Amino acid sequence: MSIIIFGASGFIGGKLYNYLSENGKKVIGTYNNSPRDGLLHFNLESSDLEKLEVNLEEIQYGIICSAITNMDYCKTNETETYKNNVLGTIRLIKQLFHNNITPIFFSTDYVFDGDKGNYDETDDRSPVLKYGEQKKEVEDFLMQSNKKFIIARIAKVYGLKLNDGTLLTTLYDELINGKTLRYTTDQFISPTYVGDLVMAIELLIKKKLYGCYNVVSPESFSRFKIAQLVKSKLRISTGEVVPCLLKDLTFPDKRPKNTCLNSNKFIEATGFKFTLLESSLDALRYVLNDTL
Ligand SMILES: NC(=O)c1ccc[n+]([C@@H]2O[C@H](COP(=O)([O-])OP(=O)(O)OC[C@H]3O[C@@H](n4cnc5c(N)ncnc54)[C@H](OP(=O)(O)O)[C@@H]3O)[C@@H](O)[C@H]2O)c1
Repeated sequence: MSIIIFGASGFIGGKLYNYLSENGKKVIGTYNNSPRDGLLHFNLESSDLEKLEVNLEEIQYGIICSAITNMDYCKTNETETYKNNVLGTIRLIKQLFHNNITPIFFSTDYVFDGDKGNYDETDDRSPVLKYGEQKKEVEDFLMQSNKKFIIARIAKVYGLKLNDGTLLTTLYDELINGKTLRYTTDQFISPTYVGDLVMAIELLIKKKLYGCYNVVSPESFSRFKIAQLVKSKLRISTGEVVPCLLKDLTFPDKRPKNTCLNSNKFIEATGFKFTLLESSLDALRYVLNDTL
């Protein structure tokens, strides 16, 4: 069996590619604008699966990490991002179905409006921002396909490598550079460690689970609390974290308040234990001690 990862040049796709390859899987990966050794070029809008130099008959799963992921850009460049994130993605899924390859699609907590939080897989979706609308449209296509698929809804995935541009390391960077950060006390998220996510995807495959799963850490925090924890746990004396409300900030697109996901369905099906945020911060402190 082999697995193809579309968008293996990105953050999650790259981690998945390395993890699955290191764990004995035969993995093929693609890039779009950022070539990497060993990856094949694939563009959502224009490339054809059947033209890739791979044996499609050997491939069982196609993991779709390819997307334009900047949510405000999805609002300000609606036509371009719709072509990629919706039309191009559905075009790829159709090609996967045609070749009997099961798609694994990364969706988002932003398919929900954020009014209540603790959303499970049975809750109604009503996105308030463009990026969430685009993801919902692809989810709809999969859900109505009558084919095997996996939708993994994920949220605020972080790494522990300095300068990886994710939540904790970015906060660390900004604070040591003496910045004053305004973080919301009324916006709640479930940050999830990328090392957990790649293992979770491997488990979905191994256990032959299909359908929609929320794959996030069951903890939830306000953004302000996360910034405070980073500052205190990493013992950063510079910079400042100042509380504010969502209404005090302006963005090109709306921001939902509480899109925390309930991941009980996934946890019950797999027995998986997510890493706690405090443990990740302890691990990051070790990384920093080694680096400094
Ligand atoms: N990271 C999170 O916290 C998070 C949360 C919720 C959902 N997600 C979803 O998870 C998936 C992976 O996210 P990520 O954080 O790893 O994203 P990322 O780092 O921004 O990577 C995006 C990937 O998509 C590729 N790509 C972009 N436009 C493309 C196109 N037109 N055709 C083909 N490939 C294209 C990029 O290729 P090049 O770089 O080579 O151009 C890159 O490999 C995305 O679907 C994202 O929406 C992520």
